[in-house]
Amino acid sequence: MKEWLEKINNANSLEVLENLRVETLGKKGVITAEFAKMKSIPSEEKKAFAENLNKMKSEVTTAIEDKKVVLEKEALEKKLIEDKIDVTRFNNTPSGAAFHPVAFTMDRIINYFQNLNFAVEEGPLVEDDFHNFEALNLPKYHPARDMQDTFYNKDYTLLRTHTSPVQIRTMLSQKTPIRMIAPGTVFRRDYDLTHTPMFHQIEALVVDEADKISFANLKHVLVEFLHHMFGDVDVRFRPSFFPFTEPSAEVDISCVFCKGDGCRVCSQTGWLEVLGCGVVDENVFKAVGYEGKSGYAFGLGVERFAMLIHNIGDLRSLFESDLRLLGQFK
Ligand code: PHE
Repeated sequence: MKEWLEKINNANSLEVLENLRVETLGKKGVITAEFAKMKSIPSEEKKAFAENLNKMKSEVTTAIEDKKVVLEKEALEKKLIEDKIDVTRFNNTPSGAAFHPVAFTMDRIINYFQNLNFAVEEGPLVEDDFHNFEALNLPKYHPARDMQDTFYNKDYTLLRTHTSPVQIRTMLSQKTPIRMIAPGTVFRRDYDLTHTPMFHQIEALVVDEADKISFANLKHVLVEFLHHMFGDVDVRFRPSFFPFTEPSAEVDISCVFCKGDGCRVCSQTGWLEVLGCGVVDENVFKAVGYEGKSGYAFGLGVERFAMLIHNIGDLRSLFESDLRLLGQFK
């Protein structure tokens, strides 16, 4: 019997142990076979024989059970080690939120003008001819409509091509003095390195009684604003044309990349165009019943600002939803 107990004790796997159980206590096991011998044992010896046999049986059973617990524990530990997942292998740490550069730039600009007491106005993205063109001194068939490739809907509504219609909506619904900005999405049929069919503008409009608002006010506000956004840059006003302003200007800053020496970004000119502006045209005032008032307006492209501030080369990359781009702006 001792040798069986030893074997059980030395069993190195649950399989070996199970085999030993079968060999001892199984149907054809050695202990089971001993019980079969009972019949042939003389009755006076039977009691001692049976006692001895039961003792053996319980010793073997206990030995097997004890060993089983040990082996099961070992097997479990082994499995736990083998199946272990290296939770540090993939970096699943939440990366933390980041503002999209366009949203970030938009917020910065809105904030700047809110601090100057400009109200934030909104208008619909689906506009009509009157607000997007007509009231802005762009009558039907006017050649200047070609400046903006418009998405038209079947019902003669259109996707607004600029935020300027918010000027019209604000003047039609409010009294002077007006000091507002209108940030929002605009749409044009254009797609290349510097154009996407959807982009963002921020419009500004300041209107007050006759002769109160001049080009000088506009110039001062814009120079201050551009210094706030781009730091110590030169600012120049270049005569230009917009149907809704007269006089009109396009505003350039000295190139933020080459400091005015000339580089690829500024096409060797040393200047970057950043916005359009002007004194509100009298025809616009007429269209909204504001005859005789004075005001200025300007409009800027938010993407353009974001690209210059963050040195982004391709406008389209702002809309490809590549998280690696966002990751750079935490
Ligand atoms: N609406 C013009 C554009 O989209 C920009 C602009 C706004 C110019 C206001 C002058 C005054 O190009």
